[in-house]
Amino acid sequence: MSAAGPVRSRIAGTGSYLPAKVLTNRDLESMVDTTDEWIVSRTGIRERRIAADGEFTSDLALAASRQALAAAGLRPGDIDLIVLATSTPDMVFPSSACLLQKKLGIRHGAAFDVQAVCTGFIYALATADQYIRSGMFRRALVVGAEVFSRILDWKDRGTCVLFGDGAGAVVLEAAGEAGVLSAHLHADGAYADILSTPGHVCGGKVLGDPTLKMDGGAVFKLAVRVLEECAHETLSANGLAVPDVDWFVAHQANVRIISHTARKLGIPPEKCVVTVDRHANTSAASIPLALDVAARDGRIRPGHLVLLEGVGGGFTWGSVLVRW
Ligand code: UT7
Repeated sequence: MSAAGPVRSRIAGTGSYLPAKVLTNRDLESMVDTTDEWIVSRTGIRERRIAADGEFTSDLALAASRQALAAAGLRPGDIDLIVLATSTPDMVFPSSACLLQKKLGIRHGAAFDVQAVCTGFIYALATADQYIRSGMFRRALVVGAEVFSRILDWKDRGTCVLFGDGAGAVVLEAAGEAGVLSAHLHADGAYADILSTPGHVCGGKVLGDPTLKMDGGAVFKLAVRVLEECAHETLSANGLAVPDVDWFVAHQANVRIISHTARKLGIPPEKCVVTVDRHANTSAASIPLALDVAARDGRIRPGHLVLLEGVGGGFTWGSVLVRW
């Protein structure tokens, strides 16, 4: 780190985890009125993973975190901040971040959850970046982990075919040069109703419907619009242009959302990282899952400009721009 340079953060390692149980589109054909052809043509999804009974968000997060720590050449004790993005925590409290901290055997620093649904990882990464820039923490574990299979209505073909379980993680550490160039976060609660899981716990009972509800068409249109706007906002704030982007790693909800957005931006398909076919929409886990795949298979290399973008319930959306 240069003595005079500002403290920034860089991604030192990535990791991911998918539960063992595979649920294919063909499997879903026997559960709801759907076809493999419909799911693949409308979403690009071929299969999703389902967490085992007794396997919780913090367990998925643990497996992804261990990989990210190994990739960074660090031990759990080197971490002084855990920010975990999830909408499907293990329990009401403690936070899944604290449960992960316990499983990692860390007993110092801070740990908390961030709830921004499918934008959760972007919010978590932006949050950890700010703490590192301020000098308050040196090394953060930033995780997205979800068990969305547990909040789905398995009789609703309009939603149950779209989601899956998984986790992704990165180690973020203080560095002299970027690293993370910028973060842009947005929310507009006026759109709360188009994607929600409205049930809640009260008086020892779940009140309201605890399964995911979505107006798919409205979500699709809004997602494409805000992802395009946010990409322009991000690049112009950094004095960069679309051709400077080496990799576009967007929230993995639907391959058509990614390809429509990329086409509108002028990003060629070969610069888009797509993993949604293998795990469906894993909400806050999807971006670090895709990032880990592209980092491990050697596509993302030092010096590359990586545009991460998320969008999801809230409504929330945002970007993190990274010089690898
Ligand atoms: O993190 C954000 C999370 N949400 C999303 O990413 C979802 C964004 N939205 C989407 O991805 C798309 O809107 C969907 C994939 C949900 C739907 O695709 P679409 O091309 O917008 O289809 P549609 O909603 O216009 O539905 C077309 C038809 C309907 O039948 P009718 O009314 O035309 O007879 C649906 O009932 O497809 C029917 N349909 C299905 N058919 C077979 C809906 N779900 C299914 C299904 N299998 N699973």
